Amino acid sequence: MSDKRTVRFGLLGAGLIAPFHAKSIAAIDGCQLVAIADSNRKRADDRAKEFGCKSCSSLDELLADKSIDVIGVLLPNHLHAEPTIAAAKAGKHVLVEKPPAMSLADTDRMIAACNQANVKLGIVLNCRVRKPIQAMREAIASGRFGRILQADAFMKWYRSSEYYHSDDWRSQRRSGAGVTIQHAFHYIDLLQYLMGPAKRVRAQMCNLAHQDVELEDTLNAWLEFENGAHGLVEASTAFWPGTDIRIELNGENGTAIMIGERMDTWKFRDQRPEDEQIRQFGRKSVTTAASGPADFDFADHQKVIEGMVEAVRHGGEPIITAPSARHTLEIALAMYQSARTNHPVSLPLADESAAWD
Ligand SMILES: NC(=O)c1ccc[n+]([C@@H]2O[C@H](COP(=O)([O-])OP(=O)(O)OC[C@H]3O[C@@H](n4cnc5c(N)ncnc54)[C@H](O)[C@@H]3O)[C@@H](O)[C@H]2O)c1
Repeated sequence: MSDKRTVRFGLLGAGLIAPFHAKSIAAIDGCQLVAIADSNRKRADDRAKEFGCKSCSSLDELLADKSIDVIGVLLPNHLHAEPTIAAAKAGKHVLVEKPPAMSLADTDRMIAACNQANVKLGIVLNCRVRKPIQAMREAIASGRFGRILQADAFMKWYRSSEYYHSDDWRSQRRSGAGVTIQHAFHYIDLLQYLMGPAKRVRAQMCNLAHQDVELEDTLNAWLEFENGAHGLVEASTAFWPGTDIRIELNGENGTAIMIGERMDTWKFRDQRPEDEQIRQFGRKSVTTAASGPADFDFADHQKVIEGMVEAVRHGGEPIITAPSARHTLEIALAMYQSARTNHPVSLPLADESAAWD
């Protein structure tokens, strides 16, 4: 396979997130969008027209197209597993939107199917690629924070009642529409991406502002990480007009805070020349989905898709692997279990079905 081989994508799902993928693919050299499929044919047709590709209504049609290398699974959260497994069996690489699936068992089946078929499986957890997060991760790895004491994620967002009624799955807890697995998932992921595994979780969930849907719009959770640090997650879609997320790290030798995509605070006992440049990260960015589901830029998606293209072309792993996202799902499931039982939950999860009982 030549290094410059064009990598061709087929997208399954023509909804809200599809343009982020289509625009990213168009922006990457040697990358092409071949087709968009959606069971709502009009939606597929409209997107295909917008992005200059074929339109179809099912995964089977994408799988039958021999020119397609990668299937993007952009379906509602509870529908990720079977298309991923079918795509792998058809010899296609797969890039799946977060969360990987609604259960660890399904995630494991997806990983096994892709391993068995020797195809790549990438997960879209686009916030990981933000420059402030990469800087935090490097500073942790090089020991700059010293012992980390606290790692928090605050997501005070707003989603309207219309948002929750825009499609059936958006108002159903078991489809993955609650704030924990749908919105906060990115920021729970950032905490475990930075801190490593969690060992204990305690959570409370409630519905503060969307009483016409039966799911949690608000999460308050406490985490204990294996590295000894503690963490808080406050996440809600009830707080109008919605403000930028905050990721806060406090170590014995330093503090870093990202707000939205911007490095707000970057202070260490050992100051270094590169710190001033790091403090400028994200200064130009504006919207980060705090007030509306599509109010953000596709640059982070583009980086994730570039990583997938590299993995397909040259071998190696996608930049966000399914095993690396699995623990985020485990933490989210533990939060559901803890909120339901009103008890702390230890990880690894002994019985994941207890999350949804
Ligand atoms: N990474 C991010 O920042 C981000 C942001 C938003 C959404 N997402 C994720 O993207 C995924 C899709 O979310 P969305 O907001 O685009 O949802 P959406 O409801 O807007 O779109 C989903 C589409 O899938 C179609 N569909 C459903 N079942 C189908 C099937 N069996 N075959 C073909 N098409 C089918 C629907 O008709 C719909 O057009 C979810 O997993 C969500 O969590 C990620």
